[in-house]
Amino acid sequence: PNPPKRPTIRPYGSAAIAEAAALIRAGEPVAIATETVYGLAADATRGESVAAIYAAKGRPSFNPLIVHVLDLAAAEQIAEFDPLAQKLAATFWPGPLTLVLPLRSDSGIASLVTAGLATIAIRVPAHTAMRALLEATGVPLAAPSANASGNISPTRAAHVAQSLADRIPLVIDAGPTVLGLESTIVAVTDDMLRLLRPGPITTEMLRNATGLTPLTFSSNNIEAPGQLASHYAPSLPIRLNAETATPEEWHIGFGPISGDRSLSPEGNPITAAANLFEALHQADASGCTAIAVAPIPHDGLGAAINDRLARAAAPR
Ligand code: TXA
Ligand code: MG
Repeated sequence: PNPPKRPTIRPYGSAAIAEAAALIRAGEPVAIATETVYGLAADATRGESVAAIYAAKGRPSFNPLIVHVLDLAAAEQIAEFDPLAQKLAATFWPGPLTLVLPLRSDSGIASLVTAGLATIAIRVPAHTAMRALLEATGVPLAAPSANASGNISPTRAAHVAQSLADRIPLVIDAGPTVLGLESTIVAVTDDMLRLLRPGPITTEMLRNATGLTPLTFSSNNIEAPGQLASHYAPSLPIRLNAETATPEEWHIGFGPISGDRSLSPEGNPITAAANLFEALHQADASGCTAIAVAPIPHDGLGAAINDRLARAAAPR
């Protein structure tokens, strides 16, 4: 059989970074080495670019993603840093620590990155390849691990190519990753640290830097690491597969069903994913007493959209 034509694997260097930056400007996700694992990076300010990450990974649901920036100053344009968060950033950035902080209202980050949450996960990577891509694109990059849903995190370019194959155009190969383990995730609130995902920055390192012991959660409290309270839930009740709406309902449409707002008039699941969380916020603020959502076809990102809507409609 012919070897797969995609993805192209290029050794890290200025030509490869220029090619990757052009792809990211064109809205495509690119895989690149970081110090933890290979990430699948896309422009965090554009919903359709972020939706393309989920499409490539074949993720059955929308988990909020980590945004990567060059330095603390860039991070402060996106998230609110209290003194405790500043202390952690000063101690561990650049490096394998992700902070979950309040999202600034003027962040410019696409709502699909945070899955509509009021908080954002952000880190300043140490690896020169990822840093070069941040410099070349000039935008914050959302980047989950560069593997298909259900596969283990990739620590080599070859793992990425095996797992994502023709779903992505390019992998920037900078050799095996040094840490081989995803970043530690810490939520910072009210002088309190919550460890959402253990990683290379240990509890002891966090304690030494801050004098605080991070609270951890027993694994039976949460579905998966980092999953705690990690989805925006609309305050209004939701009715699914609604071809039409009652006068009391805000109708979110799809394709030929236009509603008060359509997720995608042309029926494109990438566009619909990009608009999903914004549409839910808009519905909540509409003054209606309930939300009705048109049927969404299950193919492609439709599965993830339907997963999210089913959770939003579940009794709570
Ligand atoms: O090492 C890493 O962090 C790698 C490299 C590529 O940088 N990235 C990575 O990203 O692991 P990802 O998207 O696979 O991990 C995101 C994790 C998820 O577990 C998610 O639930 C959590 O971060 N997360 C993101 N935003 C969150 C938020 N606002 N609140 C709570 N958890 C959040
Ligand atoms: Mg992952």
